[in-house]
Amino acid sequence: MLIRPVLSGCGLCTLIFLLGTIQATQQEENGLEGKEQIHRGQVLVFKGGCNDCHSPKIFTPEGTLPDHTRLLSGHPQYVELPKIPSNIIGPDKWFGLFTLDQTAWAGPWGVVFAANLTPDPKTGIGDWTENTFIKTMRIGKHKAFGKDILPPMPWEDYAELSDEDLKAIFAYLKTLKPVKNAVPAPIPLTGKEIPTNP
Ligand code: HEC
Repeated sequence: MLIRPVLSGCGLCTLIFLLGTIQATQQEENGLEGKEQIHRGQVLVFKGGCNDCHSPKIFTPEGTLPDHTRLLSGHPQYVELPKIPSNIIGPDKWFGLFTLDQTAWAGPWGVVFAANLTPDPKTGIGDWTENTFIKTMRIGKHKAFGKDILPPMPWEDYAELSDEDLKAIFAYLKTLKPVKNAVPAPIPLTGKEIPTNP
């Protein structure tokens, strides 16, 4: 009677050890998980400069900072764009301009607005799958099949990241507060709609 619990105890140790080994091997194969994955994604987003363009800003005596109440929600929908003086951008002129919060950029490619990366299903990436996100970042097309993603979004640089890193970024983005903000579509530079001064 005394021996039995000791033996069961050892059996349990072996089982726990084996389960632990299997789990560790699976994690190695599947990559990071849970909190660790989200933390890695957050580090990559902050170090990778995503907030520079994708977050609206607050202006403080310490400088321009991402607005944490609407992090990564893109160019604010209702902000009126300052007029762009005509003939300022061109091969022998300035290459580009950007707003103070860096969410709208004008260049030879037109005017583009940083996308909403929060999990809002209609205006953000709430209905994207992990696969859609990875492919988008690798080939530079909206939702992996749509229009080309224009500069200055440096997708070619991020395309070099491993699947594990892109999965981590996506996992982190999914934890953000969903912000309803319908970012405007790009405006071609030659288009009549471009808000230039005569
Ligand atoms: C220098 C500015 C800049 C930086 C840095 C930047 N982006 Fe972007 N990003 C943009 C702009 C502007 C667009 C919209 C381009 C367009 O409309 O064609 C965009 C578009 C995207 C899109 C496509 C959204 C869609 O609906 O098609 C994704 C996804 C994205 N960015 C993710 C990221 C992530 C993740 C990071 C950081 C790792 C990042 N971006 C860093 C400016 C930037």
